[in-house]
Amino acid sequence: MKLTDLVNPSVLTQPVYEPGRPIEDVARELGLDPAGIIKLASNENPLGTSPRALAAMQRALGQSNMYPDGGCIALRERLAQRHKVEAGQIVVGNGSNELIELLGHVFLRPGDEVVMGTPAFIVYKLVTLLFGATPVEVPLTNHVHDLAAMSAAITERTKLVFLPCPNNPTGTNNDGAEVKAWVATMPPHVVVVVDEAYAEYLEESPDWTGEWSAGRKLVILRTFSKIFGMAAQRVGYACAGTELAGLLQRVRQPFNVNAIGQAGALAAVDDEDWVTACQRANRAGFRQVEDGLKRLGVVYVPSVGNFLLANVRDGRAVFDRMQRAGVVVRPVGVYGLPEWVRITIGTAEQNDRMLAALEASLAT
Ligand SMILES: Cc1ncc(COP(=O)(O)O)c(C=O)c1O
Repeated sequence: MKLTDLVNPSVLTQPVYEPGRPIEDVARELGLDPAGIIKLASNENPLGTSPRALAAMQRALGQSNMYPDGGCIALRERLAQRHKVEAGQIVVGNGSNELIELLGHVFLRPGDEVVMGTPAFIVYKLVTLLFGATPVEVPLTNHVHDLAAMSAAITERTKLVFLPCPNNPTGTNNDGAEVKAWVATMPPHVVVVVDEAYAEYLEESPDWTGEWSAGRKLVILRTFSKIFGMAAQRVGYACAGTELAGLLQRVRQPFNVNAIGQAGALAAVDDEDWVTACQRANRAGFRQVEDGLKRLGVVYVPSVGNFLLANVRDGRAVFDRMQRAGVVVRPVGVYGLPEWVRITIGTAEQNDRMLAALEASLAT
């Protein structure tokens, strides 16, 4: 018997996630000095990590012989306060990626449908396929999620609907009041997941406080990977109704979030100075990058995240040339956007280097 005869068929056909290339990997392949490479490929925070979080994580290292708090009790209590909900409504995950997978464990079986935009964060589709369910992809209109078309795509088989606010890779967002009104129209057999990974970069996000008492089957996802600068630690969380949160808790590993990440996240939540400084730097970086792209005549999608999509005509070729110049951006052919690259907004110096590398790449 072949090994593949034993394997869950969903695994055999499962597409593989292609992450932003790590600096060390690029350096090794191209014989470059890692210190000279900049990575603007994974929407990480170019300013680093919240200093409060960093100090707390350094302290937590000393307890490395102990298992972490499997219930993430202190962090969940603090997050519940932040979102004005009960601690029982918060589930912490190994990045918000894990929470998307836990939603699959709880809700998805073969034959189920999951409604999502296209292009939208690819993990929604990967998790759907992994559980043998069917992705129902609704094209974006002018790079923005088409809420009416998504509602029209819901059938009696739909279990989950994903809406990233803002979306990755487009950086676009739907109006908060419209999203709230749309969530309220979801039929009772559907769980709606609003992914707010980049919410801290926005001027304002919807207040979901009263939604669960109104009986909504709503999950909000947040992460410490973006503005808080803790992508390496893998901490994200879901805010949901108590019953739904309990189901997510049931299917996670006992110690799914490491102690260093928990300590960092707990300290980062209160680091308002950091968040404000990063918001400001991101806005200035956008002005710099947009001015540069306009000067180069490159079409881009106006974004409210910490990244943008730029049309460079041949995304893979420009990615390759920029990479050889030590600037790693993200080709987005996997999102059906072969002409585009996604570029994270960096520091002023990184943005200058990125624009110079882009200009040279476009000229060749
Ligand atoms: C829209 C969106 N959701 C979720 C994530 C996952 O974040 P993490 O697993 O690091 O919390 C990302 C990461 O890029 C994202 O862009």
